[in-house]
Amino acid sequence: MMSWEKDSGSGVPITVAYGDGIGPEIMKATLKIISAAGARLKIEEIQVGEEVYKRGISSGIEPSAWESLRRTRVFLKAPITTPEGGGYKSLNVTVRKTLGLYANVRHCPSYYPFVSTKHPKMDVVIVRENEEDLYGGIEHRQTGDVVQCLKLISRPGSERLIRYGFEYAKRYGRHKVTCFTKDNIMKMTDGLFHKVFDEVAKEYPDIQSEHWIVDIGAAKLADKPEDFDVIVLPNLYGDILSDVAAQIAGSVGLAGSANIGNNVAMFEAIHGSAPRRAGQNVANPSGLLLAAVQMLVHIGQGDVASRVHNAWLKTIEDGIHTYDVYNQETSKKKVGTNEFGDAVIERLGLKPSVLKPVDYPSRSEPIKVVLKSKPKEKKELVGMDVFLDWDGDPNELGKKLEKITSGNLKLIMITNRGTKVYPGGLPETFCVDHWRCRFQASGREASIKHEDFIDLLSKLVGSGLPPIKTEGLYTFDGVPGYSLGQGQ
Ligand code: IPM
Ligand code: MG
Repeated sequence: MMSWEKDSGSGVPITVAYGDGIGPEIMKATLKIISAAGARLKIEEIQVGEEVYKRGISSGIEPSAWESLRRTRVFLKAPITTPEGGGYKSLNVTVRKTLGLYANVRHCPSYYPFVSTKHPKMDVVIVRENEEDLYGGIEHRQTGDVVQCLKLISRPGSERLIRYGFEYAKRYGRHKVTCFTKDNIMKMTDGLFHKVFDEVAKEYPDIQSEHWIVDIGAAKLADKPEDFDVIVLPNLYGDILSDVAAQIAGSVGLAGSANIGNNVAMFEAIHGSAPRRAGQNVANPSGLLLAAVQMLVHIGQGDVASRVHNAWLKTIEDGIHTYDVYNQETSKKKVGTNEFGDAVIERLGLKPSVLKPVDYPSRSEPIKVVLKSKPKEKKELVGMDVFLDWDGDPNELGKKLEKITSGNLKLIMITNRGTKVYPGGLPETFCVDHWRCRFQASGREASIKHEDFIDLLSKLVGSGLPPIKTEGLYTFDGVPGYSLGQGQ
């Protein structure tokens, strides 16, 4: 059942959180505009963020709020403040990951000539992976010198996001999907994302596809954003580049964000809670309002979405601007949050004349993607990486470890922060107290027994070199599932 099918005349149930900082002001303005436009909603209010954290709930959200989200399956959320320091996890990320909101859609068009930009023709849609990557937030301090954060990329996680990007392009008549990764360095994680992109792209022959390494891709995006259409990318690059895209289009204050899952969706502005601007009636409600437009399309109220969006475009075109986009050449009047909201309401029913009006289908099904299943490969253990906390010289460590063997496992190499330092390291390589020691069977990719693995670990402990972490080295249908050491 689609969420809008629950509209029984009294409105579609949605969950609303007013948030922190400028949140309450922009949410009030947004709700006032969409209800004036005829949105048929039944609002359940929940509290998340600062207040809840302060009550000692480190997740920032209470069980009753989860119940509301699972009941309505539609969440309009104002920005919230995550308290600084350890111990608090970002509520945004918690909601996205817990509810499986895998696709984060951020439309960044230019509103030239009414909002100043160096890129009058740009019209980019960022489709950002929303659950994985470094946002797993799995971090550990392992030695005095070293902390680590695990970067996790999965095939299904990549596939559903990338398929969503292509389906989005198809639905909205966009002609190209670009993928950004750094797979010249992260050959396995970003490499998987790129590989899945190439596989999925083949199923959409009518849509152009291309891949850029993210550094040069980002430089091109900042220089010539009009060359891009839909961009799919892993979580962290998507976080960074959606702010860049929104800002060069005009302002981060203008972009809305839809977080889409199979069951639930959350709509929010891409900017934060801006506590310094709070309570002054200056904040721009446009980011949240455009997120609410995406929400109305999602729940099958495309007619209302078009009315709101067109009135908003007309307001921007009439030069009625909040401080963040106001400039002397293109603006006519600088207004506060409430006045801006009222100006949009006055224009309901009007369309822009220079900017392109929107026309959303009045009742559309949310985009759904279906994953292709892959046959399971044969997984074999062929060695292990043991990480040690040790102060000293790599050659000394190498000599010690050469003597420790188990079954046919023996030391192959030692790296420090990924660079090979033994055997045959260079004295110039800077080393910290964190060593990755690779043990493999003597024959090439020969399989080993888990018992050898355990035995090696106890011998290491017995020699005063207790492991701080281990990673199994596996092959999948004979293909190594681990990277080489830098310089190996
Ligand atoms: C965003 C924000 C969030 C993110 C923060 C607030 C956790 O920057 O929505 O882009 O990093 O995803
Ligand atoms: Mg961000």
